[in-house]
Amino acid sequence: MMKKLDILKNMPKSIVLKSDGKVVLGVYGGKKSLKKLKYQKLKDIFDAKAYKRVKKLKKKKSKSCNISWDGREYEVYFNSNIFYFYDITSYFEVESKLKQSLGELTSKKEELQAVFDLAANGISILDRNGMFLYANKFFQNMMEYTMEELYSHSCISLSSAEYAAPSKTAVEKAIEFGSFEKFKKVCVTKSGIHINASMSLAYLQSRDEIIMITSDITEDIMYQDKLKKQVEIEVAKRTQQHEIMCHQSRLAAMGEMIDSIAHQWRQPLNSLGIIVQGLRHISSQKNIDVKFLKEIEAEMMQKLNYMSQTIDDFSVFFRITKQKESFNLLQSIEDAIRLIEIQLKNYTIAIEITKDESLDLSILGFANEFRQVILNMINNAMMAIVSRSVQNGKIGILIKRVKENFQIEIVDNGGGISKEDMPKIFNPYFTTKDKGSGIGLYMSKVIIESHMNGLLRVKNTKDGAKFTIMLKKGY
Ligand SMILES: Nc1ncnc2c1ncn2[C@@H]1O[C@H](COP(=O)(O)OP(=O)(O)O)[C@@H](O)[C@H]1O
Ligand SMILES: [Mg+2]
Repeated sequence: MMKKLDILKNMPKSIVLKSDGKVVLGVYGGKKSLKKLKYQKLKDIFDAKAYKRVKKLKKKKSKSCNISWDGREYEVYFNSNIFYFYDITSYFEVESKLKQSLGELTSKKEELQAVFDLAANGISILDRNGMFLYANKFFQNMMEYTMEELYSHSCISLSSAEYAAPSKTAVEKAIEFGSFEKFKKVCVTKSGIHINASMSLAYLQSRDEIIMITSDITEDIMYQDKLKKQVEIEVAKRTQQHEIMCHQSRLAAMGEMIDSIAHQWRQPLNSLGIIVQGLRHISSQKNIDVKFLKEIEAEMMQKLNYMSQTIDDFSVFFRITKQKESFNLLQSIEDAIRLIEIQLKNYTIAIEITKDESLDLSILGFANEFRQVILNMINNAMMAIVSRSVQNGKIGILIKRVKENFQIEIVDNGGGISKEDMPKIFNPYFTTKDKGSGIGLYMSKVIIESHMNGLLRVKNTKDGAKFTIMLKKGY
């Protein structure tokens, strides 16, 4: 660094006065007007204060002095009859400005320090190896280390074992890319407490230092975990409830079906009864006609086969398929009708399927579930017709193709659904029947909309209800 004197010597406005101590013997430098100082007494050119200082200098009582002279500031040196006057007016100004900015800087620094210390986040400054150079109070409190202790630590050594390597990488990444944000890790405090933290690092290239902001997210994570658990419990509850409902719906459908079986079997059982009575009559005869016996056997077998077939139909119906399979919509609808045919006949209800010709009705999905939906709808339509004692009961099933979708309409003339029941019919356990379960339509909606990704809608027509099922071909 240049010494103050060297700086002064290089300043242009210096004046040299030669003097015996009383009178000016020569003037060099400065303004031309200074020439007239020659032969004047020192006492006369300076004011009292300045003169006193200059005299002191002459007597070598001080090395240098500062004086005000002719409206400017000088620093004066004396050496073998020569006074050197260095104009330090501008130096003075600069110095005072410097002092002022230094003061401002200090207050800024204090301000910044206060911000750092008041921040509700850990703020620290690291060197390029991650060693701590500074940490605010918050960080110190969070990690339970004093600043003195932190100097011998790095952000890597404060990580839990599994996060040491990632922390090192984070520091390197911050240096490489300028910043590294929201890096989540586990820190270990002095007393061994594990803290979940989110760190953001910014590299200050000019200083080769890293600013690190640390937020404690332990509570957030705990809260998230709690929430996750709650959701899991809720989902489990719902799944359980859903399973119970599925089970109930199967039971309800089974109940309705047993009614159906009873109807399907009534007629063949009657016939068998009659045949058995006939057999008793035959057995009392001496000569048993083998040919006749064979005929009876064939008829009995036919009835039994029919009964066995109905049971097969029902058991197929209740088999649970877990995997999607390709099935034919029309066939499924016909299967469902077959199960309830006898009842429909008993109530003299006509059922008719209408479909677009040459329509490929194969679809991928759960055939049994779909059949259950159709059966429930036909059953509902039938019960509506029966309960209102409608003459000429009719159920129509219309299969259409609408763009990429299949649309299946199930229409009846059973009088429809009342305005106040309409919003409730898909609710679980809503029923208007004495022995109803109220689960059929709820389950139908779940099957069509959740399992088959379709839509199930209802409307009243002028004579009854119309249920519309929409399905995508390859849902
Ligand atoms: N086709 C229909 N015509 C008139 N009302 C119907 C029809 N389908 C359903 N409903 C009404 O919706 C209710 C709920 O039907 P559902 O969920 O199948 O249960 P359940 O058949 O056990 O009553 C029925 O009780 C009935 O009031
Ligand atoms: Mg029903």
